[in-house]
Amino acid sequence: MPAAQPATSGYAVELTGCTKQFPTSGGETYFAVRDIDLKVEPGRFVSIVGPTGSGKSTILNMAAGLLTPSFGEVKSFGEPVAGVNRRASYMFQQDALLPWKTVIDNVSLGLTMAGVSKAEAHSESRRWLEKVGLKNFADRYPHQLSGGMRKRTAIAQAWIVNPDILLMDEPFSALDVQTRQIMENELLQLWQESGKAVVFITHDLDEAIALSDEVVILGAGPGSTVVGSYQIDIPRPRDLLDIRDDPRFVALHREIWGRLKVEVSKTYENAMAEEGEAA
Ligand SMILES: Nc1ncnc2c1ncn2[C@@H]1O[C@H](COP(=O)(O)OP(=O)(O)OP(=O)(O)O)[C@@H](O)[C@H]1O
Ligand SMILES: [Mg+2]
Repeated sequence: MPAAQPATSGYAVELTGCTKQFPTSGGETYFAVRDIDLKVEPGRFVSIVGPTGSGKSTILNMAAGLLTPSFGEVKSFGEPVAGVNRRASYMFQQDALLPWKTVIDNVSLGLTMAGVSKAEAHSESRRWLEKVGLKNFADRYPHQLSGGMRKRTAIAQAWIVNPDILLMDEPFSALDVQTRQIMENELLQLWQESGKAVVFITHDLDEAIALSDEVVILGAGPGSTVVGSYQIDIPRPRDLLDIRDDPRFVALHREIWGRLKVEVSKTYENAMAEEGEAA
């Protein structure tokens, strides 16, 4: 199994002055995000919350090295990110399980692609499947799994390669409320003591506060930028099933929502104005 690469100095993820622009079909330039500064220390759990279209996925893609910023710099552990960020695993909103491979082969993928023998990869995968409660489902295909089981498979798939950074783009948004809370609890249990940095994207402020050390708020687009950053000083370990009643949670939620709702309203008003223009 590949060992975690030695942690060199610096932030796990460090975006400095990052702007991303895209050409539009009309030949103009669209600024998705502008001047993003984001620093994530090793071992920290940071969530990014913002209205739809505010550039959350764009930021994650830049951290992953899947998109290059138009201006600014992306570093990971002190090294400029050029090409795919090898220190990071990515968990997409729609999990990326291969439908023609069994659960165990899906989980083994990162290891076999790194040259680990199939036997060794399978033995490590079995350890992970046990960890995520899928010990008896190794030979199933993805379509034979529930939504929660698919997410557990995707988590095992992302963690088995022992990355220093987990980039998660709304990983639980498609799940029902109860399954989602169970998955959030399981994620925190895995993450605690792991030393891994997590950058977690969500629309759901409750989820962001419950999980994170820090919540970063993105403003309305176009040209979104960071409009607020909040330290979540709720003690750990946290029991996510009861956390919403914690007075500190309630106070933080009120404060952060006060900021976020301004941006959500702006996004809504912009969308209505565009519709009006188009009509
Ligand atoms: N490849 C692309 N080409 C052109 N425009 C793009 C491209 N990728 C993203 N955009 C635009 O950039 C903006 C930010 O997109 P992004 O997907 O990062 O937002 P988001 O915050 O993740 O939204 P959501 O919450 O809906 O997932 C959007 O207006 C989107 O249309
Ligand atoms: Mg997105």
